[in-house]
This record gives sequence, C-alpha cells and structure tokens, in this order.
Amino acid sequence: MLISKTAFLTFLLYSAPLAYGVKGDARPTPDSRSRRCVVRSSNGTTDDSPEVSRVFARCATNSVIIFQEGVDYNIFHPIRATNLSNVEIQMHGNLHLPQNISAVQEIVNAGKSTWFTFEGPRVDWIGPEDENNGWIESYGQAWWDANPPNKTGISGRPHLMTYKTSQASIKYFRSHKPIAWNMNLQGDDITVSHAIVNASSTGRFPFNTDGFDVRGNNIRISDSVMYNGDDAIAVTSGSHNIVFERNTIGYQSHGMSIGSLGKDPSAFANITNLRFEDVTVIDALYAARFKSWKGGQGLVKNVTWKNIRVDNVTFPIFVTQSYNDQSASRPSVDTNSSVMMEDFTWANFSGSINTHQPGDGSCASDPCWYNSGLPNLKHTEAIIIECNTDKSCKNFVTKDIQLHPQVSEPASVICMKATAELNPNLGFACSNGTFTSS
Ligand SMILES: *[C@@H]1O[C@H](CO)[C@@H](O)[C@H](O)[C@H]1NC(C)=O
Ligand SMILES: *[C@@H]1O[C@H](CO)[C@@H](O)[C@H](O)[C@H]1NC(C)=O
Ligand SMILES: *[C@@H]1O[C@H](CO)[C@@H](O)[C@H](O)[C@H]1NC(C)=O
Ligand SMILES: *[C@@H]1O[C@H](CO)[C@@H](O)[C@H](O)[C@H]1NC(C)=O
Ligand SMILES: *[C@@H]1O[C@H](CO)[C@@H](O)[C@H](O)[C@H]1NC(C)=O
Ligand SMILES: *[C@@H]1O[C@H](CO)[C@@H](O)[C@H](O)[C@H]1NC(C)=O
Ligand SMILES: *[C@@H]1O[C@H](CO)[C@@H](O)[C@H](O)[C@H]1NC(C)=O
Ligand SMILES: *[C@@H]1O[C@H](CO)[C@@H](O)[C@H](O)[C@H]1NC(C)=O
Ligand SMILES: *[C@@H]1O[C@H](CO)[C@@H](O)[C@H](O)[C@H]1NC(C)=O
Ligand SMILES: *[C@@H]1O[C@H](CO)[C@@H](O)[C@H](O)[C@H]1NC(C)=O
Ligand SMILES: *[C@@H]1O[C@H](CO)[C@@H](O)[C@H](O)[C@H]1NC(C)=O
Repeated sequence: MLISKTAFLTFLLYSAPLAYGVKGDARPTPDSRSRRCVVRSSNGTTDDSPEVSRVFARCATNSVIIFQEGVDYNIFHPIRATNLSNVEIQMHGNLHLPQNISAVQEIVNAGKSTWFTFEGPRVDWIGPEDENNGWIESYGQAWWDANPPNKTGISGRPHLMTYKTSQASIKYFRSHKPIAWNMNLQGDDITVSHAIVNASSTGRFPFNTDGFDVRGNNIRISDSVMYNGDDAIAVTSGSHNIVFERNTIGYQSHGMSIGSLGKDPSAFANITNLRFEDVTVIDALYAARFKSWKGGQGLVKNVTWKNIRVDNVTFPIFVTQSYNDQSASRPSVDTNSSVMMEDFTWANFSGSINTHQPGDGSCASDPCWYNSGLPNLKHTEAIIIECNTDKSCKNFVTKDIQLHPQVSEPASVICMKATAELNPNLGFACSNGTFTSS
C-alpha cells in the first residue's frame, strides 16, 4: 500500500499534468492546490512555449505549476494565462526568450506586445533561493546595442510580464537583460520580495527597462535588487498603500518614481499612502522622483521617502510638474491645471551627488530630456522641486538631508513655487541657491 502510494506520488511529481491531485485520502477542496503540474521541457532544443501554454490552461485553478530545477525552457512565443485562480508557479528552471530579434519583432508587431501574461486571484510566483536558477533570460543586450545613437530604443520591443492578481506573493523573481519593461504589476494585497532585475549593459543604454510598474492597493516590494535603465519602481494612478523597502537600486536607474501622471488631461490621477524606506541608490539618475505633466488633474497625497542612502546620484530628490517625454506628442492643455501634491516628506537622505559625470546614457536630445527646463544646473543640487503653480504643492517636508556634491562645494537647491504659506515645514527657503536647512 505504502509502496504503491509512493509510486503514485512519484508519478504525480514527474508525469505532468494530471487532472486530479491527491487520490483517496484527501479530496481536492476548492482552495487547496491539489493538482501538481510539472512542465516538460525539450531542455534547450526546441520551442517549449506550446507545452507551457498547455500546462497553464490545464492547471489554471487550484494547482502548482512546476518548472524543474536546472531545466531550460525556450519560450519562443508569448504565454497568456488570464484565467488563473489559486495557482502557485514554482520557477526552479530558467526561461529563455528568443535570441532572434526579428522573430520577436514580428510577434510584437502582430499585436502580442507582452511576453508573459498572468491574471487571476492568488497567483503566487516562487523561485529558488539558489541564484543559478529561476531566471528569465531575455537577451536584451543585442536589442540595446541595435539602438542607433540618439534614438530611444528600437521598435517591436515587448513588455516582459503583466501580472494581475490579488492576495499573492512573488518571491525570487529574476530577470536578466530584459529587452525593455519588466513587470507590470496590478492588483491588491501583493507582496514581492527578493526580486532581482538586472539590466546592466556592457554596450549601449538599456532604454525603458523599468523594474516594477505598479498599480493597486496594498502592494509591498522589499529586499530586492534592481539594476536598470529606467524607473526601479513607477507607481501609477490608482495606487494606494504601496511600500518599497530594503531594496538596492542602481546602474542607470531612474529611481523610485511616482508617475508620470496627468498625461491624459481628462483622467483624474489618484494616489495615496506611499512609503519608500531604507533603500540604497547607486550611480542612478534619480533617487526619489515625482513626475507629472502640465495640464493634468488629480491628487497625490501622503508620500514618504526616508532613510535613503545615495552614492553618485545625479538628482537625488526631484519633483517636476512639467514632465515631458522626449518621444511623445500631446495636444495643447490648460497649463495651469496640475496633478496636486500634498503631504510629501523626504527624510534622512545621505550620500553623494553625482557632480563629476552627471546624467546617463538616456540622453538622446539637446538639451537632454533630464536637463530640459534647468538651464543653470551645477550638479551640486541635492533637491530640485518645480511646482507648476503656487497652489499645486502643499505641505512638503524635508528633514535631515545630508547630501554632498563630489566637489568641495555646498549642496544647492532649485525650488519653484513651493510657497511658504502652503509649505511651512519645507525645511529650507524655496529659491535657487545654496541648500541651507532651516
Ligand atoms: C537539462 O540540461 C542541463 C544542462 O544541459 C542538465 O544539467 C539537466 O540534467 C537537463 N535536464 C533534463 C531534465 O534533461
Ligand atoms: C475560466 O475559468 C472558468 C472557471 O474555471 C471557466 O468557467 C471559464 O470557461 C474559463 N474561461 C476561459 C476563457 O477559459
Ligand atoms: C529569425 O527570425 C526571422 C523572422 O521569423 C526569420 O526569417 C529568420 O530566419 C530567423 N533567423 C534565424 C537565424 O533563425
Ligand atoms: C548583472 O549581470 C551581469 C552580467 O550580465 C553581472 O556581471 C552583474 O554582476 C549583475 N549585477 C547584479 C547587481 O546582479
Ligand atoms: C481615489 O481612490 C480611492 C480609493 O481607491 C477612492 O475611494 C476614491 O473615490 C478615488 N477618488 C477619485 C476622485 O477617483
Ligand atoms: C500615510 O501613509 C502611511 C503609509 O505610508 C500610513 O501608515 C498612514 O496611515 C497614512 N496617513 C494617513 C493620514 O492616511
Ligand atoms: C557615477 O555614475 C555615472 C552615471 O551612472 C557613471 O557614469 C560614473 O561612472 C559613476 N561614477 C563613479 C565614480 O562610479
Ligand atoms: C537614517 O538612515 C540610515 C540609513 O541610511 C539609518 O541607518 C539610520 O538609522 C537612519 N536614521 C534615523 C534617525 O532613522
Ligand atoms: C494661468 O495662471 C496665470 C497666473 O495666475 C494667469 O495669468 C493665466 O491667465 C492663467 N492661464 C490660463 C490659461 O488660465
Ligand atoms: C546626437 O545628438 C547630439 C546632441 O544633439 C549631437 O551632438 C550628436 O552629433 C548626435 N549624434 C548622432 C550620431 O547623430
Ligand atoms: C530657478 O532655476 C530655474 C531652473 O534653472 C529657473 O527656471 C528659474 O527661473 C530660477 N528661479 C529664479 C527665481 O531665478
């Protein structure tokens, strides 16, 4: 009896996928993940995406989907699993996108712009602790290097992943050399921990390699590492109670960002209760950043960045309410309208401002997009706050800002329209010049 049960379990583990889970003593309950589905692989010889798609379809509910340790899976076509419920994805193998750029472009240009799509409640992603496994290899280097000088990325680049879920955890997610955007994360009650996003380039700039683009309620990203060429996190409209903590971000990162917001002048941006805490930022363009477009509307309220260490960061604290995208065009808008900002705190920042080699490889215009509107930069700026109107920034607070240029000059500040009346605890006088905390 025991032997046959063991044999049956072995069969369950190594022959995939099955219609039922444990037989006999435990009937599947609606919420248990009773089905175990092992994804077979050609181990590097052919396209495994049809098999992966089949397993996601067959094991879409109450299942554990297992990518085996040490096994390579070729994902040569997009995976779309939009009807999942109560599924655990065990990513112990490594996934490989095609290395043929035109093959991917053909797929993207045919309308499939996201390589992995997972949707449904309680979809967990569990990778291995062992850093040799659990990677998505996208071979982005060739795409970055194919981008001509002064261009912002070649056409037909896919988004790596859309992940819409709730009551879920994502642990040990790993992405190496993503072609562009990594994770579009949406939903409620989601924790991400121990993720690695590594878009370090040995050649040209890795445009648009956002780490996590986030929208939802109660999302936490912690203990993760992101080395990339765009926002490490970008919190977008409709987000509430977001925490980003104990992370290290760097390379040419564009930091811990809110936005961009207000690009569509008819949409009301709505964000509350964000906390970015205990983060190390290395060599990045920005550390703490807010970006909204002139003419937008909405409210972003109760945001804190605190205990932030920066090392060689060009713009450690940056607010712009007149954001521009170097590759976008837009109809004319009421330029006095703004996405309003209220109750913002920047506390306990320390480290060095990049004075020696400011900026990064994302400059594709003259002036660079990140210098536009800032003609007199000295690259000693600890803080740049540019409010669109006298009313659009309210109750800003800075304290314990210990940021130093890489030259022996005092830190400076650029500040516009954060009025003393609405910002009594700003912590310095809102004008251009030496940063002197009050
Ligand atoms: C897959 O290939 C790797 C390396 O080539 C090897 O170590 C592993 O045992 C193979 N796995 C299977 C299931 O064939
Ligand atoms: C999604 O799953 C539900 C429940 O399992 C099923 O009734 C429905 O037909 C599925 N829809 C699609 C599009 O597969
Ligand atoms: C790359 O993909 C394109 C488009 O599908 C195809 O025509 C070409 O033969 C592929 N190249 C290689 C080396 O496989
Ligand atoms: C990123 O990957 C490169 C190899 O592509 C490696 O040399 C580097 O150490 C990795 N960086 C991080 C932060 O893991
Ligand atoms: C902003 O979001 C909150 C929570 O999701 C919601 O209750 C509120 O109605 C939203 N406000 C607007 C103007 O959309
Ligand atoms: C502000 O946001 C923090 C989370 O960062 C939350 O703990 C706090 O309750 C919020 N304050 C208000 C007044 O909502
Ligand atoms: C500072 O960061 C810039 C931009 O990422 C980089 O080019 C430069 O090498 C870094 N400087 C040092 C001393 O690491
Ligand atoms: C300030 O931030 C540093 C991390 O950079 C942390 O070690 C320290 O405890 C913080 N200080 C306070 C008063 O919270
Ligand atoms: C914007 O505000 C300024 C200053 O209050 C005012 O002079 C200008 O007429 C306003 N523009 C529009 C389009 O309302
Ligand atoms: C890129 O743009 C810069 C600034 O406009 C210009 O100096 C440079 O010549 C351009 N390079 C190429 C290859 O077009
Ligand atoms: C402060 O600097 C900004 C950016 O260079 C500039 O647009 C603004 O006019 C300056 N303000 C004053 C009062 O000089």
